[in-house]
Amino acid sequence: MSSLEAYKAQFNRNELVHLNNAGLQPITRAAREKIDYWSRRFWEEGYNTDKDYAADVTNTRTSLAGMIGCEAGEVAFFSSTAGAISQVAFSCGLQAGDEVLMWDQEYGSHLYPWKAACDQVGANLVIVESEKNLSTPMEKYLKAITPKTKVIAFSWVQFQAGSQMEDIKHVIETAKQKGIFVSVDIIQGFGLHPCEIWSWGADAVMGGSHKWLSSPVGVGYLALRKNHIPKFKPHVIGMYTYGTCDDPSDFACVPKRDALKFEPGSKQVLEITAMGASIDVLQKTGIKNIETEALRLAKIFRQGLVNLGYEIVSPYQSEKINSTPFINVKPRGAMTNKELSDKLNKEKIFHAVRGPGLRFTPNAFNTETDLEKALFVLK
Ligand SMILES: Cc1ncc(COP(=O)(O)O)c(C=O)c1O
Repeated sequence: MSSLEAYKAQFNRNELVHLNNAGLQPITRAAREKIDYWSRRFWEEGYNTDKDYAADVTNTRTSLAGMIGCEAGEVAFFSSTAGAISQVAFSCGLQAGDEVLMWDQEYGSHLYPWKAACDQVGANLVIVESEKNLSTPMEKYLKAITPKTKVIAFSWVQFQAGSQMEDIKHVIETAKQKGIFVSVDIIQGFGLHPCEIWSWGADAVMGGSHKWLSSPVGVGYLALRKNHIPKFKPHVIGMYTYGTCDDPSDFACVPKRDALKFEPGSKQVLEITAMGASIDVLQKTGIKNIETEALRLAKIFRQGLVNLGYEIVSPYQSEKINSTPFINVKPRGAMTNKELSDKLNKEKIFHAVRGPGLRFTPNAFNTETDLEKALFVLK
């Protein structure tokens, strides 16, 4: 069995057609088995699991760090991406008059924490307008940088139509040369495309479990470069900010030195360890193999839609259109987004209504039969 076949065999098959993978993906068999394992042990053993589950959370931290390219001590878990972003936004040292630069099409869990953090201190959130078809030209973003820019915060892959800036390495390097803090929401690309954002010098990256990592909902993660960690105050405080549940209370205690200080207390063990199990499956398969297969399926689906007369809203022209599995489609004729969406929902063809049209996001576990079923309904 090839590694891709072994990966595909990780997923359940039934009548449902999963084409909203940028929304919520089915989880891998390995993730499900991990949940079964821990729930059974918690049921049977209670406190006897204490050290073992903590060790397994550490395994996930190590696997995630390996995939990001950072150290395990630079990773912190949260209950959502929003939590990870808020930690950075509220403790990165914004001051009155500073500017934070974002695109106008950022997802709310990314946009709102930065807005609130700016409002709290009188900093300015500067919004850069996307161009035609949700494209995000790098030059326009870089041009919006001023001497007051303190942070650039952008999504590696934008959620509505998969737009990416042309040369993110260049964007990060340019910002770093100017002493600007670089914060990147990687959720919509991580697990789908090989990720080099950290190696390119981003100061902080964050995301969540339930999209391209094929893991259960409920985990956000942050990787914060270790030189920043001492300067960032934990946004939420608890026993684990300082030590463990066995320590006596002591007002003289000091926060941990690594990113674990951002985790105030007990954790979502089932979700975190399940995410670790999925990450191991993805790493074993090879993210490049997953990307290649997702793009192959997306190309077939896109062509099928064009053949049926649908208009695709893509930030990209010509061959580059096939560089993302995000496919945003406008309904034909007089049909509204809602009408087309209702029709698809009735047949359990999962998708999302996003921006100008309906968003389909095939992933590598999908089959050509999934695409045929969806195209049949769209006919
Ligand atoms: C760009 C982006 N960031 C974050 C999230 C998820 O945020 P949270 O984990 O806070 O629900 C999404 C989900 O749609 C997203 O598209």
